[in-house]
Order: sequence, then structure tokens, then C-alpha cells
Amino acid sequence: MPGYKRYTVTSALPYANGPIHIGHLAGVYVPADIYARFLRLNDEDVVFIGGSDEHGVPITIKALQQGITPQEVVDKYHGIIKRSFEEFGISFDIYSRTSNPVHHETASGFFRKMYDAGQFIEKVSMQYYDDETGHFLADRYITGTCPHCGYEKAYGDQCEKCGTSLNATDLIEPRSVLSGNPPVMRETKHWFLPLDQYEPWLRQWILEGHQDDWKTNVYGQCKSWIEQGLQPRAVTRDLDWGVKVPVDGAEGKVLYVWFDAPIGYISATRELTPDWEKYWKDPETKLVHFIGKDNIVFHCIIFPAMLKAEGTYILPDNVPANEFMNLEGDKISTSRNWAVWLHEYLEEFPGKQDVLRYALTSNAPETKDNDFTWKDFQLKNNSELVAILGNFVNRTLVLTEKYFNRQVPVRGPLNVADTAALEEMKLVPGRIASSSHAYRFREAVAEMMNLARLGNNYLTDSEPWKLFPNDQVRVATILNISLQICAQLSIVAEPFLPFTAARIRVMLNLYPMKWRDAARLDWLAAGHPLNKADLLFEKIEDQVIEKQVKKLMDTKQTNEAAAVASATVKPAKPGITYEEFSKMDIRVGTIIEAEKVPKADKLLKLTIDTGIDRRTVVSGIAEYFTPGEIVGKQACFLVNLAPRKLRGIESQGMILMAENPDGSLRFVLPGDGAVNGADVK
Ligand code: 2FM
Ligand code: ZN
Repeated sequence: MPGYKRYTVTSALPYANGPIHIGHLAGVYVPADIYARFLRLNDEDVVFIGGSDEHGVPITIKALQQGITPQEVVDKYHGIIKRSFEEFGISFDIYSRTSNPVHHETASGFFRKMYDAGQFIEKVSMQYYDDETGHFLADRYITGTCPHCGYEKAYGDQCEKCGTSLNATDLIEPRSVLSGNPPVMRETKHWFLPLDQYEPWLRQWILEGHQDDWKTNVYGQCKSWIEQGLQPRAVTRDLDWGVKVPVDGAEGKVLYVWFDAPIGYISATRELTPDWEKYWKDPETKLVHFIGKDNIVFHCIIFPAMLKAEGTYILPDNVPANEFMNLEGDKISTSRNWAVWLHEYLEEFPGKQDVLRYALTSNAPETKDNDFTWKDFQLKNNSELVAILGNFVNRTLVLTEKYFNRQVPVRGPLNVADTAALEEMKLVPGRIASSSHAYRFREAVAEMMNLARLGNNYLTDSEPWKLFPNDQVRVATILNISLQICAQLSIVAEPFLPFTAARIRVMLNLYPMKWRDAARLDWLAAGHPLNKADLLFEKIEDQVIEKQVKKLMDTKQTNEAAAVASATVKPAKPGITYEEFSKMDIRVGTIIEAEKVPKADKLLKLTIDTGIDRRTVVSGIAEYFTPGEIVGKQACFLVNLAPRKLRGIESQGMILMAENPDGSLRFVLPGDGAVNGADVK
């Protein structure tokens, strides 16, 4: 775009506590990659920055759940994420990570500079603390009931059900994630960024300055944040994982993950090039952040306030945040495994990176949430990539092979259809460019596909296969023009379908070209030798799609069963002492006889060999077991329960049963080798 000398393109740093899924790709990485590739094709000076966000409570909690260290968690997921991005063709200039020393140094220096300039408020406040484990309970270390929607598993920083951002003290019945105990309050000191002081400037910069060029969803969110009134926000936490707070008296404290993570973009650029400052400090650099909508406040309000406060940095020119991509009608969720995972896709659909890129771009959630369905993925592949783009390029190459010995034929006199096609071709690069500069990649990719559609229709309508016996000059012209359309496609498809663009270039025997070449119309001279035709895309059959849908349906069933179970599992009873427990005499025994108790539907009379004696136990299990199926079975019995009479029969103990949430009963089985009379403790 005129007016800028270079571009810094950043993409949200994903938390290294799980792999990448299609929601991340559609919202952030595919559009960012399209933009970066488009800029490079335009010979712009661009750095495209990515990396893993390796701090924050989600990571330490994952470590806790898995019994490993936070470093081990981030090493594992950073590796998976980095590899899958590489294989998928996300063309980062650097994919870094925030546990790198250069990042600690950069983030720490940034904080220190603001600290020295007196830009933080130091405040002692009361915060939740877990007495048992000795930890302050930052962010996700505390859960409780959301005061807005009543969801019982809301976190101290956010309710994932209704999306509201929360303070830990908002939660009803808060509990520590570490011990499950209710927390206590304890004093602690933190540093706050006084966002309220930046409000006049933010109003001017965003509300007045970016009304016309920022997306409506982004502008709207910023407006609502600013108008609700901004409050000072703590930028430090009591945690031992993260960037240490570089001031005296801050032992055991680290920078809040949302303070350090965006500085990660700067650290990564420093790691990439010694010349990094020009990408962050020169006003002639255009800074663009690609993010999902949940990151808007951090990239449009908090990080810019930090950059402004530090004083030497440029501000983002645009933050083209996307809405969310759902999956088969449901919100994508890592914890519910409701996702299409990139590393699994790459394994299951080898060589089909561009198919997913196309499906996600042509249905990108640019202005509203959208839905990814496998049926639509199949349709996009079969009806557009195969039937239009692949079919056109293949027919053109195969016909040229057949009629002209794989050489570009001479273009003869032009008829109306030829001229119309060439005129239309002249307009295509400009249209794609203006949509791309405006971050409207759906529109841009549709223009690219329209070029293939133009070629396909031109070839079909011209019918060279019918003309060949009588008019080879005309056929030569048709194929010459079709081949030029293929050449143009190899340029304009590059940002969207980079693997396909490269394969078209190989078939056409062309070097990579630049965007300025895209409207030339004379890429292939007569006589230019071509390579062998190859199929760009293949049809995806129904069974392939059905397999993926079934995988998701299985996940749904598992989740539903887990939800039913967790909704009905009874809460734990109040605690007892070991002495109280040890009063119970529980023994392994064998049922040696069983019979129905007359006129009692629920009762069975059992004769038990308890190892100590033989005795009668009357049990309410007749609805679940027949006498025949339980005779000979071992079970556990409470043998010192006071005898009581049931239907006139004295019961001298009790059989232990596991009762499922739906009320059904199961035996509590002693392990192999337990003998009758063995003590259960
Ligand atoms: O939402 C997330 O996944 C964050 N890890 C994004 C961070 S973006 C940037 F600030 F690093
Ligand atoms: Zn809620």
C-alpha cells in the first residue's frame, strides 16, 4: 500500500498447551499467511511473526494435571505446533517461543522501562490464597459459579460458558483448583497499568482515528470497552512460571501472561534480525495484528497502551480480528475434543493442505461466526477445486500435449470470446489486490476461483476438441489463451493455494513471478516447452467424509455420557476419621446360595461364605440380578452391621454394591486371589 516502506505482520501466539485446530487456522493463521504471501509477491519488505505463548496459568495447570513440569508441557506442544504449521505451509519468517531468553530479556526490559518512568501503580490488595498448598490463586487457579450465567465451573478470569471476563472475587462459592478447598484472603502487592489514564488517548486514536478502516466487529468491541470505563489492570501475578518481575521486592512474582505475550512479537523479531528496530519503531512500517475476536481487547487497547507508554514503538495500523469458526454446528472446544486438529488432518489427508486452506478461506468467519462442516469441505473440493480449477488446468495441459506436442501454440487472430477473456483477465489482479489490502480474503479467493471459472467456461464454450480436425489455427489460439490463464492462476493463486500454484508453475515450466507480472497476459511465448500434465486435485469420496463425521459423532457421544455422569454423580459426603472408618468390618465372601424373597420384588436372600462363618444376608438387588447369575460370585460384605429383619428374615450383614448415577448396580469385585474372609480396608 502506498505510504509504507515495510510491514510487520503478527499472528496471535498460540498457548503451548494443546495442538492447533481449524478454528485457529481460519481465524488467524490462514488469513495472516495469505496477507504475508501477498505482500511478498508484491516485493514488499515484510516480516511475518509467529511463536508459542508459553506462560500463563493454563500451562501450569496442564503440567499439574499431567504430573510434568511446565517446561515439559511447552516443549511438547511447541514442537507439535511448529511442525504442523511448517507442513501446512504457514510461511512465518520466524516461529519463536516466549520461554526463549531473548524474550525474557525483552519483556523484562520493557517492564523495567515503564517502571522507571513511573508508569505503573503499585497496590497492595487482598487476593485469594490456598492455605493448604501455600499458593496465591491467580486467574484459572480458582473456579466457582459465574455470577452472570450460573455456570459452576467458571474461572477466576473468565466464564467460558457466557464469555464474560471476571475477577476472582466475582465468583460465587470459589474453590482452589489446587486443593479443592475454599480459598482465604491474603495481602499481596502488584503493579497495575492505569488504563483509565489512557482513555482520552484511546478514544481519539481508535474511536475517532479508526472508525473507517477497522472492521466493524473490532471497532464495536473497542467502543464498548472504552465506553464502559477502563480500570487499572494488574500486570503482575503471584506465580513461579513466567517472566520474573524485574524489581526489588517482587520475589515469587511474574509478569501477567498478557503483558509478556504480545511483547513476544517484538522478541521474535529481535531474534530474526539485528535490524529489528525498523520493523517496530519506524513510522513508515505498517504493523498489522492477526487475531481471533477473543484477543481484541489485548491487541487494541492494552498492548497499544503499553506501546504508547514505553514511547519508542509504533502502533498497529490495523487489527483485522476474525469471528469464530464453529464445527458441525458446535463451538470448537479443546477440552471437549470438539475440533479438527491440524496434525491429524495432515496425517489423514496427506498432500491436501490447499484443500483445507481453500475450505477455510472461502468460508472464513470474517464478519460473523461461521460453521465448518465436512460436507461443505467435500463440496468445496469436489465442485470447485476439482471441477473448476483442477479440471481447467488439466484439460488445457492435456489438450496441448495431444495437439501441440507439449509446446505453447501460436496465438492467431482473436475473436470476441478471446478478447472478452483477455479483457477480464486484466481486471483480476487489481480486484484480488484491493480485497487483500482490505483484509477481505473471502472475496479475494472468490476472485481467484472466478478466474479459473472463466478459463473453464472459455475452454468448454470454445470446444477445441471439435474444431481440431478442421481449424488448427483456431485451436492453437484457444489453447494459447487457456495456457495464459493457467499462468495467471499460478501467480494469483499463490497467496491462497501455495502448493497448487507451485505445481501449476512446474507444469507450465515457469519460474515464480511477482504480482506486478499478474496483468501482463504474455507469460508464455509460442514454442515454450511445457511439462507433463498432472492432476491438481482428486475427488474426495463420501466414505472419507463419513469417517470424519463418525469420529466427531463418537466424540459427541463420549462427551454426552461424561456430562450425564458428571451431572448426576453425588457430591462427596462430609469427612470422617480413620477411626470411624476402621469400625467397619468388611470381608471378602462368596455367595453360595441365592433365592427370591416371596412377595418382595426387590429382595434376594443370599447365603454367604464369609470365611468366618456362613450367614444370611437379605439384599435389595433383585431388580438387577437373578439368583442364577450371582451364585458362586465373590463380593465384599459388611459383616458387623447390626442384624435386622426384612420380611421376617434376619439379615446378618450387607453386600457392597457400586451404584451408577442412573441407579443401576454393579458388584464391587475383589481382585483375583482374594480369599473368603480377607479384610477389606
Ligand atoms: O488466546 C491465545 O491463545 C493467546 N495465547 C494469544 C496471545 S497473542 C499475543 F499476545 F501473543
Ligand atoms: Zn457465565
